[in-house]
This record gives sequence, C-alpha cells and structure tokens, in this order.
Amino acid sequence: MKVSVVTGDIARYSADAIIVDVFEGAAHPSGATIAVDELLKGAIAQMISQNEVKGKVGEVTLIHTLGKLPAARVAVLGLGKQAELNTDKVRRAMAECCRVLRRAGAQKIASVIHGTKDGALPVSEAVQATAEGCILGLYTFRKYCTKAPEEPQVEEVHIVSTEADASALERACERGSIIAEATNLARSMINEPSNRMTPAEMAEIAHDLARSYGLQVRVLHREQMRAKGMGALLGVAQGAAQPPAFILLRYNGNPQSSEVLALVGKGITFDSGGISLKPSEGMEEMKDDMSGGAIVMNAIAAISRLRLKANVIAMCGATENLPSGTALKPGDVLKALNGKTIEVISTDAEGRLTLADVLSYAVREGFSPIVDVATLTGACRVALGQVATGLFTNNQELANKVLEAAAKAGEKMWQMPMFEEYKEQNKSDIADMKNSGGRYGGAITAAQFLSEFVGVTPWVHLDIAGTAFTEKVSGYNVKGATGVAVRTLVNLVESLAA
Ligand code: BES
Ligand code: MN
Ligand code: ZN
Repeated sequence: MKVSVVTGDIARYSADAIIVDVFEGAAHPSGATIAVDELLKGAIAQMISQNEVKGKVGEVTLIHTLGKLPAARVAVLGLGKQAELNTDKVRRAMAECCRVLRRAGAQKIASVIHGTKDGALPVSEAVQATAEGCILGLYTFRKYCTKAPEEPQVEEVHIVSTEADASALERACERGSIIAEATNLARSMINEPSNRMTPAEMAEIAHDLARSYGLQVRVLHREQMRAKGMGALLGVAQGAAQPPAFILLRYNGNPQSSEVLALVGKGITFDSGGISLKPSEGMEEMKDDMSGGAIVMNAIAAISRLRLKANVIAMCGATENLPSGTALKPGDVLKALNGKTIEVISTDAEGRLTLADVLSYAVREGFSPIVDVATLTGACRVALGQVATGLFTNNQELANKVLEAAAKAGEKMWQMPMFEEYKEQNKSDIADMKNSGGRYGGAITAAQFLSEFVGVTPWVHLDIAGTAFTEKVSGYNVKGATGVAVRTLVNLVESLAA
C-alpha cells in the first residue's frame, strides 16, 4: 500500500472512493466538502441536517455517486468538533475510514487534507498524520492464514492538494509513511509466534535492517556475553534451548558529535515465567515480550531512513525464559555486568535481569541519554490499564522531552513516581538486591531495580506491558501488537537533533 500526495481537485478525482470531512456540530459542509456536496446535489448537507451525519471522530458515511462525479463513492468522514481537532484524531479517523473502504472493496482511495482550513492544523502535520493513519489502520498480519481475505487490499491512497508545488507535502507524506511502516514492521515481529521469532531470528532481522537502511550491526553470542560478564542475562538464558543473542544496531547521523543516544529494548521472545511458571491462561500473549526489542530496532531503522542528525544505538538482549533442568531457580544469585549481585526471588522477573546487563553495557560504553522500552510488569498494566505507557526517570529534563515526543505522536504516557522509599522493597539479605520487590508498587520497584544499573546517566524507562498488545480494533490499532513507542522514539531523536 502506498500513500502519496498529488495535485488536483478532489471533486473531479477518479478513484474507487474519495474521502471528504465534516465537523461535529457544524450545520453545513465546509471546505472542499462543499464542492463535492454540490455535485451530490446536497446529499451531505441533507444528511447533516437530518442528523444522520453527526461528524463524530471516525464516523464514516458512504454515499454512492451514481455518476454525479468521477469517483464511485464518497466517504464522509467525521473529525469531531472543529475546535478540538488534532493530528491524532486525523490519524484515528483516517484509519477507521480506510478500513470501512477496504470492506467496501475500494482499492484506489483519494482524500482531502484534513483540518487545515483557517490554519487549524499545519498542513504538513495533517498530511503526515493522514499517511500514518492509513498505513497503521490497514495493517494486517495474515501470513499464517491460508485462506485469502474476502476483500482485496487497498493499493493506494492519494492525498489531494490544490497547491501546484506539493514538494513540502510529499516530504511530510514520505516521513509519515516511513514511520508507520517501521511501526508495522515492529508489529509483525511481535505478532510472530515465538517458534519463529527466536533470538536468532531477531538477530537475522537486525542484519536485514542494517543492510537495507545503512546501519552497523553487531550480534554477541553466549560465549562473548560470558566473556563480558553478562551474568544476569545469561542466567535467564540458561534454561532455554534457543541460544540468546545480544543485538546492537548503530546509526551515525552526526559524525561531528561524540554523543550517542541508546535505545534499549527488552527482548524476551517467550516469557513462560521460567521455574516460577506463569498460569497457562493467556500465556500465549507472552510471545509479545520482545516488543521493546522490535520497537527499538525498527525505530532506529526509521531514524536512519529519515537521516536524522543524531548518533543512535539500539540494543536488545534477546532470550527465551523457559523452565528446564538447567533453568535459573528462585534463590539463585547472579552477577550483572556492572558487578552488582542479584538474588533471584522470581524467575518471572526476568526482564529486569536482562535489562540490567544491557543498561550496564550502555553506561560502560558512555552512551547517553538512555531510553529503554520493556513489557516489564503486569503491575504497570494494573496501574494504567491499556491506555497509557508508564514512564519512569532519573532525569526530569529528559522525561519532559520524551513526554513531549509522545504527545506529538498521540501515544499516551504517564509519569510514575521514583521515591527513594520504594528501593527498600528490593533489598536482599544475601546479595546487593533482589529481583522482585513484591506486589505493592510493582511497576515502580521494577523501575527502581533498573535505576541501579544506569547510575547517574540520564535515563527514561517506558513500561509498555499495558500498551504493547491489544485485544480490540480501535483507531489506528488493530488486534495484536500496537508497535507503541516507535513513533515517540523517532520524534524524540528528531527533537534532540534539533
Ligand atoms: N513479561 C512480564 C510482564 C507482563 C505481564 C507483560 C503481563 C505483559 C502483560 C514480566 O516478565 C513479568 O512476568 N513480570 C512479573 C514480575 C513479578 C514476578 C515481580 C509480573 O508482572 O507479574
Ligand atoms: Mn516474566
Ligand atoms: Zn517478561
């Protein structure tokens, strides 16, 4: 599926469907919708006056044109109240609309640029959001369905501009497409079952991304990790038959600077809990426990494709967490790369063990700042539900930048406290710390555990346990992996580069 910007007149545009918009509470069509409505002999105005078209965000009304204009159908898309319009509503509405049109069999779609009349939205932002909404909303993961879908796939969406020189808008469209495609690739990695998406497969994909987008790639294997002293990650990996992999992807977009931003992702390709075995109900979702890794790998790919002026490294410690005769056991003590010792209370708190080594590695290499992304705790999902990602930090300035980047992406994030008192719960009698602080404040004690491995390096931890995966179709998310945080990370690097 390709989204592009073309110069033309939407009312005269030939396509399987054209998309025009209406605002909630408006008495009449406005903007480009007026000309289309005139050709439709006032059908849209009538539907508005009879309250059949309400204009709520993502509401889609299909009208067959019966030859009154070149397009076969007009989709009247609600954008909500005009005064409350933002880019995320454009993204969500376009996603809903594209899925309705796919169901109707449309393959060639054209759309107006939403909400830019009277300067409500900057036009390039509206175009980028439109491209993102289409590509994210039409995402499917069907590779294991042997039956073809009932409807054909949408082939192209043309964003129709009236400007003769649309080159600035083409760049915005390209930018949205790159970011959305990266998100979809992350989704596909996450949706893959764990018998396919092994640590070795993640490493293979890292090599593919490096080849395609000009990144440096390095993969450390078990013996190399042992030589470095990555005892915490290897402790998790020791029960699994699939060998672990420490994956590094590097992008040097600013050779004049020695600063390198580290993006760290949790890469548990399947989390059974290990000897502290999880209940079997819903365990299949734990194939998504490598979401953080997939997200940072694809974020850096997008960062490279966009040629952002920054140096970035993506790192993922990938392994399965499985029970076996060689598996890590509760009570075992592990030594992390930075020399700290950890008493394992629960082998199901494996994410923080793997991150301990990767974060230590990042600090040792002098990478700064560090942002990690992890499906870390069920407690974070309990606290914030499936709406917001939990954000934890030791540096408010960096946190504010991440929050701003997230807001721009329409990805909801919520900062959680890091009061010293929580550290108490991680104290061990026989080692420097233990890997579980109990049920109370579980997302925070997990973050406090991670903070022991970053020291004073500015760091943000994103707990995506509630937001990485969804059971329902809504806006630009479809069932399965959401790819949350890819877009935030790209925005963050762009803001740091500026
Ligand atoms: N991968 C899980 C966290 C998770 C749970 C992600 C549900 C998505 C949905 C993590 O490794 C885990 O098992 N955490 C434990 C920690 C506990 C043992 C301290 C948890 O949340 O129960
Ligand atoms: Mn676990
Ligand atoms: Zn886990």
